[in-house]
Amino acid sequence: MTNLGFITSQFIADKTYLHGLPYGEGHINDTYSVCLQDSDGVISRVILQRINSYVFKDVDGLMNNIVGVTNFLKKKIIAEGGDPQRETLTVIPTVSGDNYYRDNEGDCWRMYLFVENTETYQTIRNAEDFYNCGVSFGNFQRMLADYDTSGLIETIKDFHNTVKRFEALKQAIKKDKAGRAGKVRDEIKFALDREKDVGVLVELLESGKMPYRVTHNDTKLNNILIDKKTKKGVCVIDLDTVMPGAACYDFGDSIRFGASTAAEDETDLSKVSMSIELFEVFTKGYMSVAGEFLTPIEIDSLAIGAKIMTFECGIRFLTDYLNGDVYFKIHREDHNLDRCRTQFKLVQDMEEKMDLMKEIVNKYK
Ligand SMILES: Nc1ncnc2c1ncn2[C@@H]1O[C@H](COP(=O)(O)OP(=O)(O)O)[C@@H](O)[C@H]1O
Ligand SMILES: [Mg+2]
Repeated sequence: MTNLGFITSQFIADKTYLHGLPYGEGHINDTYSVCLQDSDGVISRVILQRINSYVFKDVDGLMNNIVGVTNFLKKKIIAEGGDPQRETLTVIPTVSGDNYYRDNEGDCWRMYLFVENTETYQTIRNAEDFYNCGVSFGNFQRMLADYDTSGLIETIKDFHNTVKRFEALKQAIKKDKAGRAGKVRDEIKFALDREKDVGVLVELLESGKMPYRVTHNDTKLNNILIDKKTKKGVCVIDLDTVMPGAACYDFGDSIRFGASTAAEDETDLSKVSMSIELFEVFTKGYMSVAGEFLTPIEIDSLAIGAKIMTFECGIRFLTDYLNGDVYFKIHREDHNLDRCRTQFKLVQDMEEKMDLMKEIVNKYK
């Protein structure tokens, strides 16, 4: 059993540990809410997290990313008249001044101030949620628009390098480890037919035509703390995958999961499409804040970025299916194939709607 009291005392020595309970519905780290009492009897909470060091190998680099970005955000938030302890995460250092604690078993722990009077939603319930999502992630990018990304490490190497993802697919087809290639000829053809798309964003970034931005890379709704009263996004959290990348990575991935009319693993493909209404709602929210810093090339990349992010996700599912389901957890036979098919259906739908998507982006710029 983990001794949460002992771990807590490595960060906070002048308060009494009362209890710690599992908190939230994150899938990557183990999150606890820890209750403390000070010498005047005042009770407060903090967030204690065991960092998933299986996924994130370089915890030093990861925590440096988070501290760098949140300190920068705090200065911006103060300059804009906001509350720096509420509108971004605050890392509480250990008593010896480190930004995380490694226990005897090698597990790494970090502590954050608890942002009170907020809630998180697990799924997008309506258009307003998705609009707010666009505003929050757009604002996150806006405030970090002049952050020097050369100081950030890639916490997951080549995460959105679509060229390398495509190369991995080709390898998987060639090796056909699980003997499944014959069964997915249509999907393989769909992927290979789009080879010309895979280098578009990488080329724009590497040639310097498009700037590297701080991207969040996990733009789910439950990574935004929402104010209980105003119902507006207060704080973007879960900064483990903050990395240098293209602005359209976050925009595109948000559209991929949030504007789809069906679940990622829906088997009835007739239910799967990209809702143009939801696309517009998110774009409106995102552009209301991002419109002021994005370059014309970045604005131009948003609609195509949505398609490329979706395509990339689809080829990752297909690659894993061909490799024998070694990366993504599956809960039924052919689960990765079902997931691949929904993504490819979305890609096809986006191709048909591309002109309209671009028109909508331009409407809000
Ligand atoms: N500083 C915080 N204040 C309040 N709640 C938080 C804070 N940090 C995390 N949470 C809650 O814990 C959940 C999981 O945290 P998160 O960092 O997103 O972990 P994971 O990487 O596992 O998704 C969040 O969805 C949110 O509900
Ligand atoms: Mg999370």
